[in-house]
Amino acid sequence: MTQDSAAKFDTSRAGEYAEQARIALAGYDACHELSACMLSAALGAGGSARVLVAGAGGTAGEIVAAARLEPGWTFTAVDPSPPMLALARDRLAAEGLAARVETVPATVADLDPRPGFDAAILIGVLHHLPGDAAKRALLGQIAQRLRPGAPLVLAGNVRPYASEPLLLAAWAARWRMHGAAPEEVETKMAKILQGAEPPASEDALAALLTGAGFGAPLRFFVSLFWGAWLARRAEG
Ligand SMILES: C[S@@+](CC[C@H](N)C(=O)[O-])C[C@H]1O[C@@H](n2cnc3c(N)ncnc32)[C@H](O)[C@@H]1O
Repeated sequence: MTQDSAAKFDTSRAGEYAEQARIALAGYDACHELSACMLSAALGAGGSARVLVAGAGGTAGEIVAAARLEPGWTFTAVDPSPPMLALARDRLAAEGLAARVETVPATVADLDPRPGFDAAILIGVLHHLPGDAAKRALLGQIAQRLRPGAPLVLAGNVRPYASEPLLLAAWAARWRMHGAAPEEVETKMAKILQGAEPPASEDALAALLTGAGFGAPLRFFVSLFWGAWLARRAEG
């Protein structure tokens, strides 16, 4: 179950995740809130839905935002990193949401393969997976578990970091803006870049999605290298 993409989210990284994620991604909470709004718009407000949340460890912010907006939704949250999932469980309990969320220390591949979900959320995971095959495999595993036409909200970084030096420098400046000394900025950036492999472009991301059984993605959020999209599981 443990994979390299999860192993780097160890106890030390989990401990600082909530604070660091909000510096690393300008608009971290807005991305979670808009993800909930997009799913609600796609499914229709006020109904019931079973939502699969992959890579749900950490703040559980995407679940909290969606659960508050749509009281009729329930969630299955998977993450192969035990410390990240433990953080999510604590937050969900503190928010009074534990009864609406099943947390599973696993990957999507470990879940029942039938199409039992009405929607899915995959935030901040894809660019940690090495190569297109692993990315397509995870998207395919999600597609397999979604009903035809069901929406997926996907968010993460696109484009190789070295291809956009200006964005990379602005990203480093954001750490400086939040008080990091030059050597700390260097350490932060090295940690962020470690093992990360974003899709080559937005077109490449769209191709990964269509190859895995989704329609064309609609972008609704952008912040430096980061973007968020909604795509629907192909019908039939
Ligand atoms: C950057 S965190 C994002 C967490 C959360 N979605 C958020 O928005 O803050 C990435 C998470 O993906 C998890 N992860 C890594 N590989 C995964 C995989 N193959 N399937 C599901 N989750 C995975 C990691 O363990 C980690 O908790």
